[in-house]
Amino acid sequence: MNLTTAEDLLQEANRYVEKNKAGVNPRYRHQFHLMAPIGWINDPNGVVYYKGEYHVFYQHNPFDSAWGPMFWGHAKSKDLIHWQELPIALAPDQWYDLDGCFSGSAIEKDGKLYLLYTGHRVIDGQTYQRQCLAVSDDGIHFSKSAHNPVIAEELLGQHGEIKDFRDPKIFQKGNKYYTVVASKTPQETGRILLFSSDNLTDWQFVSVVLEGTPEQGIMWECPDLFHLDGSDVLIISPIQMPQAGLEYHNISSTVAFIGEMDWQTGKFQTENYHEIDRGFDFYAPQTLEDDKKRRIMIAWMQLWDRAIPSHDLGHGWSGAMTLPRELKVKNQRLIQKPISEVYANIEYLYGVENLVVAGESLRLKKVMGDNTYLQLVCDLSASQSFVLELAKNQESAIRLSYDKGSEILTLSRENFGYALLGAEKEPLVSRSVQVPLINQCLTLEIFRDTASLEIFANALETLTMTFYEKTAGQEMAFEAEGQLTIQSLEIGRVI
Ligand code: FRU
Repeated sequence: MNLTTAEDLLQEANRYVEKNKAGVNPRYRHQFHLMAPIGWINDPNGVVYYKGEYHVFYQHNPFDSAWGPMFWGHAKSKDLIHWQELPIALAPDQWYDLDGCFSGSAIEKDGKLYLLYTGHRVIDGQTYQRQCLAVSDDGIHFSKSAHNPVIAEELLGQHGEIKDFRDPKIFQKGNKYYTVVASKTPQETGRILLFSSDNLTDWQFVSVVLEGTPEQGIMWECPDLFHLDGSDVLIISPIQMPQAGLEYHNISSTVAFIGEMDWQTGKFQTENYHEIDRGFDFYAPQTLEDDKKRRIMIAWMQLWDRAIPSHDLGHGWSGAMTLPRELKVKNQRLIQKPISEVYANIEYLYGVENLVVAGESLRLKKVMGDNTYLQLVCDLSASQSFVLELAKNQESAIRLSYDKGSEILTLSRENFGYALLGAEKEPLVSRSVQVPLINQCLTLEIFRDTASLEIFANALETLTMTFYEKTAGQEMAFEAEGQLTIQSLEIGRVI
């Protein structure tokens, strides 16, 4: 048998990437979103501000554009927009992680960068998930701790099941380190556990932070816990959360619980919760706090159980990260906006003021490219509804519509480009969200990259989606019921 040593697998993966990345088909590759050079990615991992730079690791299968044995890919950036690709940081090469280095997080201690991740094993059909530590002096080359796994069966005890025990998010509070870890109850609902440590190696069980109800999915993944604007926020990614009104229409969702963490009892008291992003493709968000004390979130801009054309067409890659978004808590809701660096990198191309749309379609030609930023202030004082068509080509368009009576904004990718079929129960053509007007106006900010749209509506709601057009659509068109005034329309691109 040809046994590969630990060092070999990491080197082999890095060599494979170097040798094959030029062969990736560029057709749907993004221009200002983080992707792996080749292969599959899912969750952002270890997002951290370390020695003046932002690091993002990610779940990565370098050898295929489908999910497989998980490595940790790695990139760093000074502004979270322009990325420097770095060598793969972790390979599944130890007895405790041979079936995957699953999701986790990063923290700096004494100038070193530590990663806490889930070692995934499947032995005779039985799954074991245990938390493991790796450390680096330079933020690039990591060695796994001799004490691994650092949180395993003994500490988990009766608090959860070893087969669903993953995605540690580490943080410091006072001079203690803590990690929240995802798990589930015997009734198949989500459960978040808390552990603490003085040195990152020796851990103690602290508490069950929060448990889900059947209306909140069968398992929670990727927890994140932080304090922001006077509230505590617990982010989770639930699997199969049932639809409730317009919320939770995806097979897996993302939820922000807003409330108070009681550090005496280790329990989270929920005051409100809601879906974080209202589009199709947003999962497993993770946050960091930087030197400016900003809380910044990045998510996987894809979802499980979906067709991904860049894989199906043999393009050799799959998945990207969202734009970095700064978080605030307002009225017990989590609010997101692109970080200021995004705006600093927008090149404004042109703008139009007081554009009146009445009834029939108003078409703007050659305004949509693969990299387009649009900002529109739509005044609906004399209009009941409108439809905005994006990336419009001869046959079809992505449709964004608003109805004043119901205050509902709807994004539809029906009949547009490749059909993005998913899990059977999932309606995949449109997503809707209620957005109240502000002084009769709806302000839309739209970031279009080659195969994605991120929409920020009235600085309150976001909708994120991927799409894969068959014919490049460069037009934008409006239709309105009544008289819609576009007070301003700015068009630019991210450079
Ligand atoms: C979330 C997730 C995590 C797991 C990882 C595996 O998308 O399922 O729970 O650690 O992906 O790649």
